[in-house]
This record gives sequence, structure tokens and C-alpha cells, in this order.
Amino acid sequence: MSAAGLETAGLTVRYGGLVAVDQVSLTAPMGGITALIGPNGAGKTTCFNACTGLRRPAAGTVSLFGADVTVRAPHVRAQRGLGRTFQRIELFDSLTVRENVALGREALLAGSQPLNHLLRRRGDRQAVARAVDDALERSDLGSLSGRRVGALSTGQRRLVELARVIAGGFRFLLLDEPSSGLDSEETERFGSILCGLVADRGTGILLVEHDIGLVMRISAYLYVLDFGQLIFEGTAAEVAASPIVRAAYLGSEADALIGAG
Ligand SMILES: Nc1ncnc2c1ncn2[C@@H]1O[C@H](COP(=O)(O)OP(=O)(O)OP(=O)(O)O)[C@@H](O)[C@H]1O
Ligand SMILES: [Mg+2]
Repeated sequence: MSAAGLETAGLTVRYGGLVAVDQVSLTAPMGGITALIGPNGAGKTTCFNACTGLRRPAAGTVSLFGADVTVRAPHVRAQRGLGRTFQRIELFDSLTVRENVALGREALLAGSQPLNHLLRRRGDRQAVARAVDDALERSDLGSLSGRRVGALSTGQRRLVELARVIAGGFRFLLLDEPSSGLDSEETERFGSILCGLVADRGTGILLVEHDIGLVMRISAYLYVLDFGQLIFEGTAAEVAASPIVRAAYLGSEADALIGAG
């Protein structure tokens, strides 16, 4: 687990006077799951937005597969293999599961030139169909593929979102609270899907997640953010044993943290 995936160095993002991400340096290699955790408002989503190019950092750099992409547009990063899911579910309710998942692949093919869409060759269409079938199967959604997404449960919708980003064929994924709203059984399954993806494809994943139990089980390495700054990094066992990390969390989350160690 050493090939360069996603890396930030001194990454700093400001909203007016607020420093939401403050000189964050982290490395998330290929072929493994790295977690970015921290209390509400710590700056996790903002960090993702800087990594994908939705927000221009005030300072620092973002590297993807060893190349500096700090000033690259979001679609360029996506075409190079960077995919993401959003904290709030972003699906098309009136489309079927399969149609939603297919969009993950088609958006990548179309890139910044939607006309490519119309001009696509038969080979491309077959590649889309294969990627969609594989993503549906990995996500246990085969039996739901014809259902309208609006009729699904939150847990199922989260899986559709995951399947869509899997179908995109990205080499590196940023997942922002992908399991929020899932029950414990669904969360367990979700973890297995992510681990399977890493094992089979060597995908690199940077995971933001409030379910500490899940994070601790599947992450090789964790970064802990608080008020925009990294306050700790280490393995799950090291994070669970850290008084600094425990102090940053309150109540039930702190208990979960201790329990996970
Ligand atoms: N568009 C924005 N404009 C101004 N301030 C923002 C904006 N987005 C986020 N913030 C602020 O930046 C800080 C970091 O927010 P961010 O959403 O990155 O945190 P987070 O760690 O993802 O939190 P959560 O766990 O609740 O999702 C917070 O203080 C938040 O209020
Ligand atoms: Mg967030």
C-alpha cells in the first residue's frame, strides 16, 4: 500500500475571516482506506471540496497520483480518476436505480463536452453497461435495478450513490459520510463493499464518516481534524487510545471511540 493516491500539503481554506481548513497535510495512498474524522464543523467537507476543486485553497497544494492538481478544474480531476460522493444524497428520484448508476459512468465519458454524449460509439455503450452491471452487483442492487429511486429507503439510496461512483471507474474516491442513515446491518454491508473494491481494484479511498465503529474497522490509517487543524494521526488503535482525540469528541461518540479501541 504505497502508490501515490491523494495528497495535500499545507492545505488552507478560508471562508472570509474563518479558517475552515488550516495547513492540513495528509496522504491517502492507493489500495487502502484512509479516514478523515472529526467533530461537526471540523472542516472535513471543506477539505474534500478543496481536493475535488470545488473550492480554491488560500494556500497549500493538492496532488493526485503524484501530480499537482491544485489549480485544475473539477472535471479535469474527475477525468484523471478522482470521484466523490456528497454528504447530502444527490440522486434523481424519478429515474431508476440503473439509470442513476449509469449517470456515474456517462458523466465521466462526457466530461466537459456534453456533445460527446451524443456522438458516443457502440463500444462505449457496452462499456457503460458492463461498468453499471458490475457496480450494481457489487452493491447488492441487482434486484432493485428497475425501481424508481424515489421509492427506496435511505439505506438503499446510499447504496445507489455508492454504486454510481463505483460505476464511474474512478481510481480514487472521496466519500463524505456515505453510511449516514444506514442501520447497523446495512453499515456492515457497506463496509464490506468498500473493502471489496479496494481489494479487487486497488482503489484508494479517503473516507469521512461519523460511524466511528465502521471507520475503525476498515481504515488502515486515520487523520483527526478539529477546528480546521489536524490534531492527531495514526492507526485505529492509536487513535482510540489518544486522550487528545477523546477530548475533541463529546458524549456518545467518545464512548464509541473508546469502545472501538
Ligand atoms: N460555504 C460556507 N461559507 C461559510 N462558512 C462555511 C461554509 N461551509 C462551511 N463553513 C464553515 O466552515 C467550517 C467547516 O465546515 P465543514 O462543513 O467543512 O465541516 P465538516 O467537518 O464537514 O462538518 P460536518 O461533520 O457537520 O459535516 C464550519 O465552521 C462551517 O460553518
Ligand atoms: Mg461535512
